Amino acid sequence: MPKNYLSQKVSGLRPSGIRKFFDIAATMEDVISLGIGEPDFTTPQPVIDAGIRSLQSGETHYTSNHGILPLRQAISEHLEKLYGIQYNPVDEIIATVGVSEALYLTFTALLDPGDEVIIPTPCFVSYQAEVILAGGKPVEIYTTMEDDFEPNPDVIEKAITPKTKAILLGYPNNPTGAVVSREKLEAIGKIAEKHDIVVISDEIYDRLVYGHEHVCFPALPGMQDRTILLGGFSKDYAMTGWRIGFAAGPASLINGLVRIHQYSVMSAPTISQYAALEALKVGEPYVQDMLSEYDRRRKLIHQGLNDLGLPTFEPHGAFYVFPSIHNTGLSDAEFAERLLMEERVAVVPGSSFGDAGLGFVRCSYATSHEKIEQALEKIGHFLKQL
Ligand SMILES: Cc1ncc(COP(=O)(O)O)c(C=O)c1O
Repeated sequence: MPKNYLSQKVSGLRPSGIRKFFDIAATMEDVISLGIGEPDFTTPQPVIDAGIRSLQSGETHYTSNHGILPLRQAISEHLEKLYGIQYNPVDEIIATVGVSEALYLTFTALLDPGDEVIIPTPCFVSYQAEVILAGGKPVEIYTTMEDDFEPNPDVIEKAITPKTKAILLGYPNNPTGAVVSREKLEAIGKIAEKHDIVVISDEIYDRLVYGHEHVCFPALPGMQDRTILLGGFSKDYAMTGWRIGFAAGPASLINGLVRIHQYSVMSAPTISQYAALEALKVGEPYVQDMLSEYDRRRKLIHQGLNDLGLPTFEPHGAFYVFPSIHNTGLSDAEFAERLLMEERVAVVPGSSFGDAGLGFVRCSYATSHEKIEQALEKIGHFLKQL
């Protein structure tokens, strides 16, 4: 066995539970996957065309570290139109390699060794790992189905220590589908102000809400100066493979992100920046079409799982449901493994999203209505055999 040259930080990272299931499922035939965390739609055609046009017209070079100015201008106008918030495109916005890179930049820019980041869980699998890689310490607080998976401001405040640097909010939420009320976000904002803490708000699913208001955190009174807003194209515009997103915030913070970005990736992919610009210009009808199709599936799967006896919170945003499997007597890992082996349906164990997800599984409805119907039938069969 060769010596382990990896750093302790990396050696100690838990592999993503999601990957493990994908790897097993990939070796099997006829699997219906409810495990996928990306739209099943392809990118809207005019957006693809804009990417191709950019290549044909010779846009094959690095861009400014911040990203092309027209894209930053379009992001700025988009945020103002949707949320009434103003960012200077010159120095308050950076185009990144997806929200994934924006998270990496944000933590690396903000955290000194041992700094703590409060993270409501269940949450996106990368959050804790990214904090650890940046030398910080993730402090998980639990959200519960009884509270509609919304973070409790009192619990957040109790978790604050002199080492707390930031609170990370990821709503609409992956994996629960929770959306946080304005009232709760305002209460969290007051806590951030009182303890002088930065808020990182990952709003990558901001357009995917179903009859609920998505409140853009930095648009709350007094919050813009202490918030880094992370936004993306992957989910709203079905552009996961383009690897494009952005961060917006006060120039002093964005400048920190740009410094790391310029030494690590230089600039986000040029073709993707042009495609993202087109998405902001012409993407709205496509977003609305995808949204209404997700909504149809959302209703089917939410009702279907509850009818099968798995208590399931009605998701208000994103494209996931998070049924409780406590009453099956199986752990979430056993449930997911057996469902895959016995019925060929892939779901993700809830504990992949933090310990608050123990006893739940995540099902994505970014797959066709017909496949969801078939999956529900198979889950019903599986439950009867138990
Ligand atoms: C909450 C959340 N944030 C960020 C990401 C990463 O997005 P991107 O494709 O922009 O890197 C995901 C992807 O699943 C996500 O669910």
